[in-house]
Amino acid sequence: MIIEPRMRGFICLTAHPVGCEQSVKNQIEYVKSKGAIDGAKKVLVIGASTGFGLASRISSAFGSDAATIGVFFEKPPMAGKTASPGWYNSAAFEKEAHKAGLYAKSINGDAFSNEVKRETLDLIKADLGQVDLVIYSLASPVRTNPNTGVTHRSVLKPIGATFSNKTVDFHTGKVSEVSIEPCAGDDIENTIAVMGGEDWAMWIDALKAENLLAPGANTVAYSYIGPSVTEAVYRKGTIGRAKDHLEATAFEISDSLADINGKAYVSVNKALVTQASSAIPVIPLYISLLYKIMKAEGIHEGCIEQIQRLYQQRLFTGGEVPVDEKGRIRIDDWEMREDVQAQVAQLWEQATTENLAEIGDLEGYRKDFYNLFGFDLAGVDYKAEADEMVQVESIA
Ligand code: NAD
Ligand code: NA
Repeated sequence: MIIEPRMRGFICLTAHPVGCEQSVKNQIEYVKSKGAIDGAKKVLVIGASTGFGLASRISSAFGSDAATIGVFFEKPPMAGKTASPGWYNSAAFEKEAHKAGLYAKSINGDAFSNEVKRETLDLIKADLGQVDLVIYSLASPVRTNPNTGVTHRSVLKPIGATFSNKTVDFHTGKVSEVSIEPCAGDDIENTIAVMGGEDWAMWIDALKAENLLAPGANTVAYSYIGPSVTEAVYRKGTIGRAKDHLEATAFEISDSLADINGKAYVSVNKALVTQASSAIPVIPLYISLLYKIMKAEGIHEGCIEQIQRLYQQRLFTGGEVPVDEKGRIRIDDWEMREDVQAQVAQLWEQATTENLAEIGDLEGYRKDFYNLFGFDLAGVDYKAEADEMVQVESIA
């Protein structure tokens, strides 16, 4: 069928298989162009189908010739209805990995559940024996705790006071004022339950209990800090509490891995357009200004550039992994550069509907957003019929 983007609010209901494949191929080419990385060889990526997790899987496979197992939660296609983008990304990734002679298998299901953990442990046991790197890159609005059966929903709200600031509807370019009411009730606890470190620790405990972590194995989860304009709704809001919990969990996991000489890291990554970040008010305006400055400075990065740099210049240098005073790896260093932030803050004051297209990178934002769904990629013929029924090779 001919597949076009169909928007509803901040989400796109369709995805283009050929565009997603092109996006994955572009990322593979980028990693290859940067040379070999002396990294992990058997890698489990939890949240492997889009964003930073997909970039991690690609960086391991095509930077270090690693065998990868990817876990994700994506919608397969149905006749006449496209799959979710992560499904097509994973299909393309496996196809390219298999062509390159690399082991790659995937598990599609709820990573928070005992069943998917069981299935993953069994697959590692049968095929790889052990893994030496576990990337934890889930982004989800909801989690059912398998031990209690309670379903928690995360919220993106400030704590204590209403937050008002500028935002942009990136479809129309309209800049307006938004007010976000503070969280209430169990919002903080629920957000921590979904996006904090509990499930990460459960994964590592389960792997360790069955001796599936190789000596010296590392695990990495991703976090965000960001600027003062987004602080109330992000780092000092409910999601920030979850990130605090995730970061604290890294120390607990490291303690539990001491006997196998393993370590848990949190890497603080840069703000990027993903399905999740588009839905947070204020963030799209910040990102469109940030992109403009970082592109002008020649330091703009997407997920793949970020993770390739994380691997080559932080995790796998052969030396000590550089961390900040809180033990975190920082690949948001260029975003947080003082000169970059000073310029963004200045533009923030000026931004209006009338000038945003000029002072901000609204076009770049939109392009990245469309690219997430496989649209607007160079070299893809969107007028041609595309087969929506593309399958992930390892998933029956
Ligand atoms: P994403 O939405 O692109 O990826 C999320 C992944 O999780 C997908 O592979 C999805 O299939 C998977 N997933 C979601 N729920 C699942 C479930 N129940 N079971 C199995 N898989 C599930 O998100 P992203 O932006 O790459 O975020 C990954 C991590 O990076 C998050 O911790 C996020 O906070 C962090 N981060 C994001 C940004 C940003 O600007 N986007 C910046 C810094 C850090
Ligand atoms: Na991810």
